[in-house]
This record gives sequence, C-alpha cells and structure tokens, in this order.
Amino acid sequence: MKGILLAGGHGTRLFPLTRVVSKHLLPVYDKPMFYYPLCSLMEAGAREVLLIAAPSDLPLFQKLLGSGRALGLRIFYRAQERALGIADALRIGRDFIGNDRVALALGDNVFAGDCTAVFRHAAAQKDAVVFTSPVPDPVRYGVATVQGERVTALEEKPARPASNLAVVGMYYYPPDCAAYAAKLSPSARGELEITDLNRRYLQEGRLRALPLPCRWQDAGTSEGLLRAAALVREEELKGRQLGCLEERAYRLGFIDRAQFERLWPLSAGSDYGAKLRGVPV
Ligand code: G1P
Repeated sequence: MKGILLAGGHGTRLFPLTRVVSKHLLPVYDKPMFYYPLCSLMEAGAREVLLIAAPSDLPLFQKLLGSGRALGLRIFYRAQERALGIADALRIGRDFIGNDRVALALGDNVFAGDCTAVFRHAAAQKDAVVFTSPVPDPVRYGVATVQGERVTALEEKPARPASNLAVVGMYYYPPDCAAYAAKLSPSARGELEITDLNRRYLQEGRLRALPLPCRWQDAGTSEGLLRAAALVREEELKGRQLGCLEERAYRLGFIDRAQFERLWPLSAGSDYGAKLRGVPV
C-alpha cells in the first residue's frame, strides 16, 4: 500500500501564522505538524509516500526529508498548483497510485495513540475505509451516520449534523480512487471535496467506517493547534512519543539500529535528540 500526504492549501484559518509559512511546517509541540500524519502513514505500512504541497513550499519539505531513504522510505514530491481541495491530491497522485491501494493523510491531523493495528486492517481491505471519531462540534467536519461499519449518510460541514461522528483525515482507497477523483466537480466553496468522493463509494456499497480507537486532533485552527500540542505533550508524559519519524522507522523495522543511530547527530543538542538517544534497543 502507498501513502499520500497532503500538505497543500493556504492555511487561511491560521492567518497570520501561515502568511509566509506552510501550516504543515508549523510546530506542534516539538516537531513540524506534518511529522504526525507522516508517522501515521508509516504505521499503516506505507513505504512509498507522495508528499503534495504548494509549489513554493515543496523545497522546504524536500530539505527536511530528502529522498526519505534515511527513514527507510521512498518519498516523492508533487506540487499542488492551486488549493483545489483534498480529493485533488488523488488526481495529482494518479500515476503514483497506479494499481495500488492508497492511504491519504491530511497534513494537519494528529493521531494520538498506536493505530498500527487498525490502520493495517484498513489497508488490507478491498473497500474504501474511513475512520470516525466523536466531536463536540460536528459542523466543522465531514460527518458520517453509521450502522456498525456500514455508512448510511455522509455530509460535509452540515448546518444540522445528523450525528456527532467526524470523519477524520486518514482515508483508505482502492486504486480506482484516482479516476473517481478526476470526475468530481468542485463544491460551492470551489474545492474537490473528499466527502463527495466518499459518497460515491457509499453509493456503490464500497465504503466502510471504523471507529478510530485513539484520540485525534485537527490542528488547522489556532485552538486546534494548541490542543494538538497539548495532546502530544500529554502522551509524552505517559511515555509515548508521537510523530517521531526516526523512532517510528526503527520500531517498525524500516531501518536497523545502526541506521537509526546515524540519525541522532541531526538533532544533537536538542530535547528531541535526547529522546532519540533514550529509545531502547
Ligand atoms: C477536512 C475534510 C473534512 C474532515 C476534516 C478532518 O476538513 O473536508 O471532511 O472531517 O478535514 O480534519 P477541513 O479541515 O479541510 O475543513
């Protein structure tokens, strides 16, 4: 299975923070925001990842991650010329996806827990799979009505939500998602909505929803950014590192101990570096 990380858009909800810096590069506690969903893609088993960002931001991501080889990954980069919405990532990624199943992660979603088992389960299905999480403010999200794993309705930012279950920003699709995304029309806000794509799978009886078994935070607003940082810190106090790419690559067996230790000098002198050095063999 392949992974796509969408780090595009203008981040307007975080202006002026994002006037000159990509939202996905902003700090969430001790790392850039997009490290967290990239870790989630790694947990899902993706070794090949396509990172999509605005043309002016791409070089910064490339500077941080390069080819991804040091993490046991192959990272590819593609520009999103205009902020055309989440489903646009699948259109841009069409050649990359090829005949493989793909996990699409939003660059501002932080998953706080070990979701490796459920993400791998979702990766192994044939159908499209979304995850839901109860929220106090469903008007801000894609909202699902479910019966068990079956989705009966999906709405994007409904004025009167039919449930309190938000669809989180980690989606699993069969290879035909790229062709489906290419056929979508822009919504009233001018975007190719991921909810419209999910609805197509719903209409075809090919969509499943699983409850997300961990806490989750969309960091795309100032309140969300603060909450995400608090969540990361809280998990760390419980002894669990979130979004730590080097540690996760090692734990998942993408790199061996020698390769892992070769990454330490990059963070020498920082708290982060000390955490890496503390990872047991
Ligand atoms: C997007 C999706 C929405 C989803 C949310 C998760 O919303 O459109 O369906 O629930 O991500 O973070 P956005 O944050 O782009 O408004």
